[in-house]
Amino acid sequence: MAQQNAEFVVVANRLPVDLEKLPDGTERWKRSPGGLVTALEPMLRSREGAWVGWPGLADADAEPFVEDGLALHPVRLSAQEVEDYYEGFSNGTLWPLYHDVVAPPAFHRHWWQAYVTVNKRFAEAVAQVAAPGATVWIQDYQLQLLPAELRALRPDLRIGFFLHIPFPPTELFQQLPWRKEIVEGLLGADLVGFHTPGGVRNFRWLATRFTDAKPGARNEVHYGERTVKLGAFPISIDSAHLDELSRTAEVQQRAKEIRNDLGNPERIILGVDRLDYTKGIDVRLRAFEELLQEDHAGDAVMIQLATPSRERVEHYQTMRAGIEQSVGRINGTFARVGHPVLHYLHQSLPRDELAAFFVAADVMLVTPLRDGMNLVAKEYVACRGDLGGVLVLSEFAGAAIELKESVLVNPHDTDGVKNALHRALTMPPEESRKRMRALRRQVLSHDVDRWARSFLDALGLPS
Ligand code: ADP
Ligand code: G6P
Repeated sequence: MAQQNAEFVVVANRLPVDLEKLPDGTERWKRSPGGLVTALEPMLRSREGAWVGWPGLADADAEPFVEDGLALHPVRLSAQEVEDYYEGFSNGTLWPLYHDVVAPPAFHRHWWQAYVTVNKRFAEAVAQVAAPGATVWIQDYQLQLLPAELRALRPDLRIGFFLHIPFPPTELFQQLPWRKEIVEGLLGADLVGFHTPGGVRNFRWLATRFTDAKPGARNEVHYGERTVKLGAFPISIDSAHLDELSRTAEVQQRAKEIRNDLGNPERIILGVDRLDYTKGIDVRLRAFEELLQEDHAGDAVMIQLATPSRERVEHYQTMRAGIEQSVGRINGTFARVGHPVLHYLHQSLPRDELAAFFVAADVMLVTPLRDGMNLVAKEYVACRGDLGGVLVLSEFAGAAIELKESVLVNPHDTDGVKNALHRALTMPPEESRKRMRALRRQVLSHDVDRWARSFLDALGLPS
């Protein structure tokens, strides 16, 4: 059993690596999906911290282990808990509710019970690992009760919480039957962080409405004896590292091969996402299809890379079926033998391969209906040291606040997305280079390390 010796602990629902069971019964660890891991892993490695999280497989009894200098502490979830806490309350209730109900959230009491139980288990696990007076940084919507649970067990700890997804408008949050408990859970932290000032405002209002918290200074509430700080901290990526990777001869060569394999089209359009209904993959397929119908796509080929995600949750199954049907229809209508107009890979690719796709793409389509940040948009920009390429970005992604020189679109407006895609495909190079230069200035100067430092400074972590 691990002793209380970690000075800096990150807690997230998932560990940065996932345990995978192979068909022959053996197990191996692979990188976990999603932006949270992309952002936090480099930061934590440089701080020699500990990471507490679920290994991604039900009923897995993994012992704590050290991977590349990072101490990993697995938390066990039973199959029933995976169903009720993870697929149920986290991804069937909170995820759609916090993403503007783009799919209807379901409210089930047994899901909530599992959420409470698992949050308590995480609190016990962290209490075992954290040194006296340590700093604990809790991540995301799956663990919103953990700040208060942990404070009850270990009042000596300095506790930060960061929400990686949007914090919803107050009217939507109030639908939640357990709204008071969630707000109280978060108020257990010393600092609660969001991507945007809007999230701070909404949470501050809800805290004073549903608990005894009293408004303090603009970014504070007083809660019992304590003051809880609130703040907006837009997350980012390891920009310099990705910039460097994208410039390597291997990645540049691979980008050329990709274009060649596609038959050297005039333009390559790219989408890269976890396969999630919030990402608006259907929106961009519709826009591309209509451009093809109107004969305005020129000699363009589109690639959609989609990491498999939450495959047992119903909304995800319906969405996947819809997308795969569209892909079939579009190619069925517009492809020629040996020349599909749309390439769809339901796979997770290695980082260097992904960088090559970014380098190859003339137009990057990022069209979520709602997204906390969207790191893919920033990754594309980081990979375009040649100042090539055009980013089309949804106004409803947190990234739109910072990436103003992208071509901004309303993903609910199909004509608007179609026109933006056409504009991106035909944009004069002087204009696209100017935009990309400005975007790169932003992304390279605001990297994930700066994000982590600003959060931890606000939390008062001695550097
Ligand atoms: P989310 O966290 O909701 O998945 P983000 O855009 O913030 O959305 O982060 C997604 C992360 O997953 C990015 O780092 C992106 O590069 C990575 N990713 C998305 N699709 C793929 C894919 N098909 N293969 C490999 N990585 C992917
Ligand atoms: C988003 C969430 C993360 C989550 C990731 C992958 O980035 O904010 O908390 O880990 O998606 O989703 P998954 O359900 O596979 O962990």
